[in-house]
Amino acid sequence: MYTSSIFFLVLLLCCTSLVFSSRYDENTLLEIKQQLGYPYGLGWWVKGFDYCNESANVAPEYSQITCTSTGRVESLVLHDLNGRAVARYPPFPDGICGLTYLVALDVYEINVFGSIPSCITKLSHLVRLGITKTYLSGPVPGFSGQTKPTNLTNIDLSGNQLSGTIPPSLFTLPKLDTLNLASNNLTGTIPPGILHTKNPALLLTNNSLSGELPKSYGSVEFSRIDVGGNQLGGDASFLFGKQKAQYIVLANNNFEFDLSYIEFSDNIYGVDLSHNKIYGKVPDSFATAQNLWYPNLSFNRLCGELPKGGNMWRFGPAVFANNSCLCGPPLPPCSNWAPAPAPES
Ligand SMILES: *[C@@H]1O[C@H](CO)[C@@H](O)[C@H](O)[C@H]1NC(C)=O
Ligand SMILES: *[C@@H]1O[C@H](CO)[C@@H](O)[C@H](O)[C@H]1NC(C)=O
Ligand SMILES: *[C@@H]1O[C@H](CO)[C@@H](O)[C@H](O)[C@H]1NC(C)=O
Ligand SMILES: *[C@@H]1O[C@H](CO)[C@@H](O)[C@H](O)[C@H]1NC(C)=O
Ligand SMILES: *[C@@H]1O[C@H](CO)[C@@H](O)[C@H](O)[C@H]1NC(C)=O
Ligand SMILES: *[C@@H]1O[C@H](CO)[C@@H](O)[C@H](O)[C@H]1NC(C)=O
Repeated sequence: MYTSSIFFLVLLLCCTSLVFSSRYDENTLLEIKQQLGYPYGLGWWVKGFDYCNESANVAPEYSQITCTSTGRVESLVLHDLNGRAVARYPPFPDGICGLTYLVALDVYEINVFGSIPSCITKLSHLVRLGITKTYLSGPVPGFSGQTKPTNLTNIDLSGNQLSGTIPPSLFTLPKLDTLNLASNNLTGTIPPGILHTKNPALLLTNNSLSGELPKSYGSVEFSRIDVGGNQLGGDASFLFGKQKAQYIVLANNNFEFDLSYIEFSDNIYGVDLSHNKIYGKVPDSFATAQNLWYPNLSFNRLCGELPKGGNMWRFGPAVFANNSCLCGPPLPPCSNWAPAPAPES
């Protein structure tokens, strides 16, 4: 009798939670709404709302929710909540950390201030973390806790006002494939070994990073590495070569290395080296690299005759402009190679 009533109780608990599971995250969502100051854009978040019904939310309310099969919030998009005219100053709603089944979070173009709460790093199922174009400042959260999201593959915290250094603890995320920290106020050097996947992407444009690129990046086959608009210097020639990066942006830094011996591989399709102190000549592989369509070598210290033939027809003078002494098509001819004037008859 005792055993069977325990069994009955367990059955009751289990089935009650099944019946009500589609409401499990309701209070957390309403807490987030409250923390954001009841914004217009979350008008449909009301007591008893069917938050798992994707078609219940209609434009112009851009925020979206999707659920797991058991009615837990699996992805959340918060976007443009107040319209553009309303000025308010709420902090980041840490109620989000209560959505423990979140796999994808995208918070963008909303007016939130203060720092990113570190509890976000304990959402253990996260695969994508996007918090972009907000007014958030303070540090990039470190991922060193026990419950860190081991499946996290994509972090996009671009377009905020984050400061401090890039936390080396990002290294402990085994599947991190894309790290975008562009357009923040980050300082310090770029730590080695942040990304472990086969063709990762590292986007750190428009910060105040300094020092040199880690030499170990020479053995990473980046799909994209973009470190333009910082105060980086030294050598970066090791990024180039066979089976190396497909898209390299080093523009607007103080990189200083000899381009003459670099191999532009067939992999590479974009390379912006403009506004650095790169010297030497443009190597022949520049003209033969099959997939190279978007190069920019302007505003450097390159010199000598440009390679001929190959794919040089793809490139206009702006690609090579404002170097020390580059010459030959599409730039003006090299004066010392000019044919001797025809003898007068
Ligand atoms: C989802 O919401 C739409 C629009 O409000 C409604 O027509 C539809 O019946 C809802 N679906 C379910 C399964 O409740
Ligand atoms: C990570 O992904 C794998 C494969 O999709 C899945 O089986 C596992 O449950 C995930 N782990 C977490 C903590 O979400
Ligand atoms: C971040 O950098 C931007 C642009 O350089 C600057 O306007 C802003 O004041 C900086 N913010 C902080 C918090 O340092
Ligand atoms: C970096 O800043 C430059 C100049 O302000 C701007 O043109 C460019 O779009 C920015 N790049 C990114 C990726 O934000
Ligand atoms: C190369 O970069 C310079 C300087 O940033 C820019 O003015 C020019 O338009 C770029 N040229 C091409 C072909 O992208
Ligand atoms: C860049 O080169 C062009 C063409 O030679 C020249 O007109 C322009 O003044 C140069 N700009 C700078 C900033 O040196």
